[in-house]
Amino acid sequence: MNRKKLQWVLAAATPLWLTFHFLASIKGEKRNAFMPGDASHGHHQIELQCSVCHTPDMGVKHDACASCHQDELDRVADSHPITKFLDPRNADRVAILDARKCVSCHVEHQPDQTAPMGVTLPTDYCYFCHQDVADERPTHEGLPFDSCSTSGCHNFHDNTALYEDFLEKHLDEPAFKLSPHVPQRQYYGKWSKENERAPLGLSERDAPSSVSYSQDVAFEWSNSSHAQAGVNCLDCHQSQDTGTWLDKPGIASCQTCHDYEAETFLQSRHGMRLAQNLSPMTPAQARLPMHAGAAHKELSCVSCHDDHSFETKFAAMDACVSCHDDQHTRAYKESKHFQLWVAETQGQAEPGTGVSCATCHLPRIELTEFGETVTKVLHNQNDVLRPNEKMIRPVCIQCHGVGFSIDALADPLLLKNNFQGMPNEHVESIDMVIEKLSRVAAERAK
Ligand code: HEC
Ligand code: HEC
Ligand code: HEC
Ligand code: HEC
Ligand code: HEC
Ligand code: HEC
Ligand code: HEC
Ligand code: HEC
Ligand code: HEC
Ligand code: HEC
Repeated sequence: MNRKKLQWVLAAATPLWLTFHFLASIKGEKRNAFMPGDASHGHHQIELQCSVCHTPDMGVKHDACASCHQDELDRVADSHPITKFLDPRNADRVAILDARKCVSCHVEHQPDQTAPMGVTLPTDYCYFCHQDVADERPTHEGLPFDSCSTSGCHNFHDNTALYEDFLEKHLDEPAFKLSPHVPQRQYYGKWSKENERAPLGLSERDAPSSVSYSQDVAFEWSNSSHAQAGVNCLDCHQSQDTGTWLDKPGIASCQTCHDYEAETFLQSRHGMRLAQNLSPMTPAQARLPMHAGAAHKELSCVSCHDDHSFETKFAAMDACVSCHDDQHTRAYKESKHFQLWVAETQGQAEPGTGVSCATCHLPRIELTEFGETVTKVLHNQNDVLRPNEKMIRPVCIQCHGVGFSIDALADPLLLKNNFQGMPNEHVESIDMVIEKLSRVAAERAK
């Protein structure tokens, strides 16, 4: 290219470049400049949607946090719900730390002061409200206040696996249960209740003749549990608005029959961008380590469930490791849990005895639907992620004792090496329950 031509190209390109950036800035991509600091680990994927948290004058909307998190806190019977602090009897405590407001403990955009789970408080803050614990409870005498929540004994919100009466019920369990397995999945969605259909064969596929597709598509579909249940091409590929053929059915197509899975996916880390009408999440946007080759894979139902087989074994492990590439993930294939998973998938062990990534992160949950108990897959991995005792009830105790599970989850090395070896930590809460019970028994005997 000669010099004159180059000058011409530059002269033509500069306004285009400026226009592009101007448009990008009004679309929101540049609003970052007004953000005082990066958002916390939990929110960085949606940080540019200022309006989900902020009022137009940049105050924090009073119900912002509750609008996305209240259900989750209610489900785990939050030990310190806001309502506790609206009680006038707790006014003196609120005067010290205003626990009626989420932002008293979870400030945003302060990466230097933010601990895991978006907490921006010193670790001994329980002291503000519970100075009297050491006097009232002999087992707690002399314990430092920063140990309440760091020792594995208590959480501020979710204590479902740590309550005294829960521990009391599970005192003498062995580390390894006799018949370790997770429940079977059962799917009795609304759809199959209302639509008794016979299994479909290859020749019954109902794609219009104008649509071309490979025989692989038809073959995989005909072997899937969709064909077994009579779910045909148009059930997914027909637009609900226009009735025309959709080339790439999105989450809305799946949601008509799989409401629970779609909803929990949208609440999860994986689905949180789609829930805000942002572009689908990709590994390129992650802060966690990911495979470079997967940078532009988009998160949707089919990033784990291969179309058109929609088979779940691939989704439970191979899919995860195709994107994730941190130490914990890489270590998994050295673990005994992985050996159990291989045995199950090769048919050498009973269904439900293997431990895949999904066994822990997307657990099978019992629900009540139409008056019946069904077991479905919870697609919000964050519901059982942090604090990690959340994993005890839905996952570990199917196969392990509670004491062993608490200890294993408190051991940072086991988290890194994906549970290879026995726990080297010991959380004393169970011992305290035993101590208390024997003291009570001794007093009764007197
Ligand atoms: C997930 C919720 C959330 C999102 C998304 C979010 N913020 Fe914030 N922001 C907060 C919270 C919480 C505070 C702290 C308020 C406090 O300290 O009382 C805050 C504080 C601020 C402040 C005030 C800082 C100060 O020191 O007073 C500004 C300015 C701000 N945010 C701008 C933004 C902008 C711009 C965006 C979008 C690019 C954004 N925020 C996105 C939750 C959010
Ligand atoms: C638009 C919905 C939305 C709003 C508004 C929102 N969050 Fe979140 N928040 C999420 C999602 C989605 C995640 C990531 C998944 C998860 O951890 O549940 C998350 C993560 C978190 C986490 C971290 C959990 C972890 O494991 O690291 C905390 C703490 C949190 N939010 C508190 C708040 C507080 C406090 C506010 C109000 C200032 C708020 N959120 C506003 C959706 C929201
Ligand atoms: C007195 C401090 C305090 C207040 C007030 C508070 N949190 Fe938390 N929050 C914490 C701490 C500490 C954690 C870390 C885990 C734990 O101890 O439960 C946490 C963890 C979380 C998590 C991570 C997941 C979980 O289940 O623990 C979410 C989500 C969350 N808080 C949301 C909120 C929301 C929404 C509000 C307001 C309704 C709120 N928090 C008010 C201290 C607080
Ligand atoms: C802002 C004040 C405040 C803070 C901070 C606080 N608590 Fe509480 N906590 C309360 C109130 C109020 C109750 C209700 C019972 C009472 O009056 O003691 C309560 C009850 C409890 C209970 C009884 C369980 C239940 O569900 O009834 C436990 C256990 C507990 N807190 C532990 C903690 C721990 C551990 C911390 C620190 C991680 C903490 N609290 C921080 C105010 C607070
Ligand atoms: C359970 C829902 C579902 C059923 C049933 C289904 N598909 Fe699909 N199909 C999808 C999804 C989802 C995609 C998009 C995948 C993507 O986004 O990459 C897709 C993609 C396609 C594509 C375009 C991409 C490609 O792989 O060539 C064709 C053509 C297609 N399907 C044909 C069919 C035919 C023919 C049938 C019936 C034999 C069928 N589909 C049954 C969900 C379904
Ligand atoms: C018309 C209703 C319908 C639609 C639309 C639909 N499914 Fe299904 N799906 C079913 C039924 C019925 C089953 C069979 C359940 C069983 O075997 O018990 C099923 C089973 C599944 C399974 C379990 C497969 C297995 O082998 O265990 C997955 C995964 C799945 N669907 C994903 C999807 C995804 C992703 C979409 C959207 C692309 C979708 N489905 C769309 C009705 C539907
Ligand atoms: C992160 C990977 C991942 C994504 C994304 C994902 N799934 Fe799943 N899904 C799984 C795994 C793994 C299983 C099987 C777990 C098991 O067997 O315990 C599963 C099981 C299912 C099942 C079986 C029925 C049941 O028991 O719940 C359905 C239906 C399903 N998924 C639908 C969906 C839909 C719809 C979407 C999109 C909204 C989706 N999945 C997105 C990993 C994923
Ligand atoms: C298409 C790529 C992709 C697939 C497939 C995938 N993930 Fe993810 N995953 C991500 C991305 C991107 C994030 C967000 C990371 C971030 O924001 O730093 C994420 C987040 C997570 C988190 C939350 C981490 C946190 O700190 O909140 C967990 C847990 C997780 N994935 C587990 C799994 C499991 C288990 C599977 C398989 C069943 C799986 N993922 C499949 C890309 C993927
Ligand atoms: C035996 C249960 C178990 C298995 C199996 C398991 N994980 Fe985890 N994983 C955990 C626990 C517990 C944590 C929470 C660590 C913590 O306290 O932050 C975790 C954390 C994670 C995180 C978040 C890391 C971060 O820094 O935020 C990702 C991503 C993840 N696991 C992916 C995977 C993948 C992918 C697999 C399969 C290759 C897998 N895990 C297998 C239990 C398990
Ligand atoms: C489906 C059953 C099952 C589930 C769920 C399960 N495990 Fe295991 N786990 C086992 C079995 C069986 C072994 C023993 C394997 C062996 O010795 O060959 C084991 C072994 C272990 C070990 C010892 C590993 C070693 O190298 O000796 C640890 C630690 C462990 N599990 C922790 C956990 C934690 C923590 C959870 C929950 C997050 C969990 N497991 C969930 C079945 C399970």
